[in-house]
Amino acid sequence: MPMSLTSDPAVVAPATGHAPKSLPQHVAIVMDGNGRWAERRGKPRNYGHRMGASAVRATVEHCLRRGIPHLTLFAFSSENWARPAGEVSALMGLFLKALDREVGQLDQHGVRLDFIGDADAFSEPLRERMRHAVELTRQNTAIRVNVAVNYGGRWDLAAACRRLAERAVRGELDPASIDISAVAAEVALADQPEPDLFIRSGGDQRISNFLLWQLAYTELVFTETLWPDFGAADLEHAFSEYAARERRFGLTGEQVRRAAQGAP
Ligand code: IPE
Ligand code: IPE
Ligand code: MG
Repeated sequence: MPMSLTSDPAVVAPATGHAPKSLPQHVAIVMDGNGRWAERRGKPRNYGHRMGASAVRATVEHCLRRGIPHLTLFAFSSENWARPAGEVSALMGLFLKALDREVGQLDQHGVRLDFIGDADAFSEPLRERMRHAVELTRQNTAIRVNVAVNYGGRWDLAAACRRLAERAVRGELDPASIDISAVAAEVALADQPEPDLFIRSGGDQRISNFLLWQLAYTELVFTETLWPDFGAADLEHAFSEYAARERRFGLTGEQVRRAAQGAP
């Protein structure tokens, strides 16, 4: 399968942070529906996962084109280990192959790749590939793509609490000083803005233990499109939906509108 990133001359890597304000600066996606996509075609679920890889490519490509500086993709949850062993090992194999195949091209297009989740559960060859991808792309600035693998929002929060407690035990941190910003600095993606827009494909309207802390004020958009069919049109639809929302962050609509007009 050709890598569409390189074949499309329209893809010009913009500098991080250049997306217009009406566009989300950080998009977080639950890539759901691969299994059902395959089952509807009378194929094994793993075929759906293979086809889902093209939708990842199309999504990264379109976000690059639109100048979205941060993209976080939920690829494998901490609960997905409980799936049949054949499906789990196929997913791991696909992940490994995708890393080998795509990382060079992603690098050429200025993509900085990161992973969130508990990597301890992965095989050493996979961990090595992940480290290599992160190292290779560390200086890139066109877009940050965070892939959530063996990630769970509850794991993320528990790990953050554990690190804070360890620092308190060592006497480096006063427990009384643990506040929202202290926790925010410990959870995954702490060095990136919180997601503005959450998209879930596949028709289900739930978070499924994705970024529980980070999604506190994220706009949620759900689409019936199954992940292997997801592409630029679905993203544009979600961006329009996002642009039409009024984000109030607990304020009144009037307060928000006055602030937008520069009123005190
Ligand atoms: C998302 O598709 C991919 C993973 C969770 C790994 P699913 O495999 O969950 O597909 P459905 O939801 O069963 O259709
Ligand atoms: C969420 O999808 C996780 C990923 C897309 C990686 P699931 O298919 O695991 O979610 P549930 O089981 O429908 O909630
Ligand atoms: Mg699913």
